[in-house]
Amino acid sequence: MSHLYDEIQQQPEVIARLIREEEHSVAAVAAELRLRPIRYILIAARGTSDNAATYGKYVFASILRLPVALAAPSLYTIYDSPPCTGSNALVIGISQSGESPDIVSVVEEARHQGATTLAITNELGSPLSHAAEFALPCHAGAELSVAASKTYTAQLTSLAMLAAHWSGNEERQAQVRALPQAVRAALELAEPISHAVSRYRFMEACFVLGRGYNYATAFEIALKMKELCYLLIEAYSSADFLHGPIAVIERGFPVILVAPSGRVYPDMLAMAESLCQRGAELITISDEAGILELATTPLRLPVSVPEWLSPVVTILPGQLLAYHLTRTKGYDPDHPRGLRKVTLTR
Ligand code: AGP
Repeated sequence: MSHLYDEIQQQPEVIARLIREEEHSVAAVAAELRLRPIRYILIAARGTSDNAATYGKYVFASILRLPVALAAPSLYTIYDSPPCTGSNALVIGISQSGESPDIVSVVEEARHQGATTLAITNELGSPLSHAAEFALPCHAGAELSVAASKTYTAQLTSLAMLAAHWSGNEERQAQVRALPQAVRAALELAEPISHAVSRYRFMEACFVLGRGYNYATAFEIALKMKELCYLLIEAYSSADFLHGPIAVIERGFPVILVAPSGRVYPDMLAMAESLCQRGAELITISDEAGILELATTPLRLPVSVPEWLSPVVTILPGQLLAYHLTRTKGYDPDHPRGLRKVTLTR
């Protein structure tokens, strides 16, 4: 079919392998982190990896109650004014390739300043991996399509595993181990999505909304739709959307909602009701019947997972939507125009 389709399908096995082969090392890194005076976390990443970083921001902040910031790499590489991180910081670089010089610079500088540094990468021999004190491999195998899929869910799983072990919460650790099954079940949506996409072939603009842990999912779906389908699509938190952008909505305007069960669900349901009143066309990813009933295209997740882990599952219908829409539009899912697998930015 295509590398992208194969790589989407490989995700249950990639996540299972990652947990099987890396949980030990993650536990060892977590034990070391507990001994250090870590007061905050800084994460550096680009593209899809940056969306994983956004997930990391919610996971570490909610589970460990640590402030988490996303790094501004230009401060390191262009303005020559790197912030003083010091020894109380954990600085994490997330990168599939481990190659982008700006991300490597953030980690190198932080290490030089005495911070604890960690790389999460699919390439253990990469510059990022060498720059950091600790490195956690994603075990995703070669990712050949330009668009990242399996490395994204592997990055999310690594972050979740690290938070679960760092907090010492065994229930959360067990919840992570149950992920491959839920991810496998989500792949059942491949067929209904392949039929649903023809309706959206000529769609020109779209919003995608998520909140909390799934704020990252909204951005990752938007990135997939942009790079594969060349679509004008904007991601918002459902809260921010109310502060102005909702005014764009008129009859028939398509909105993708990422609305799994959990604390954010009542807000997402209220958003869906409000969008319906304005005549929006909803494409809804959820395991909750109530919100799915309001959708023109309901994408029902067959298995519910705890909300903090739901981004590992909710992204799959997003990836499949982007893949099938790309096919329907007649574009090449493995070679988006003008893009390369590895983008080096300084
Ligand atoms: C992903 O679909 C994109 N092609 C791209 O944004 C990619 O995630 C980005 O270039 C980051 O790459 P890295 O993870 O290798 O650093």
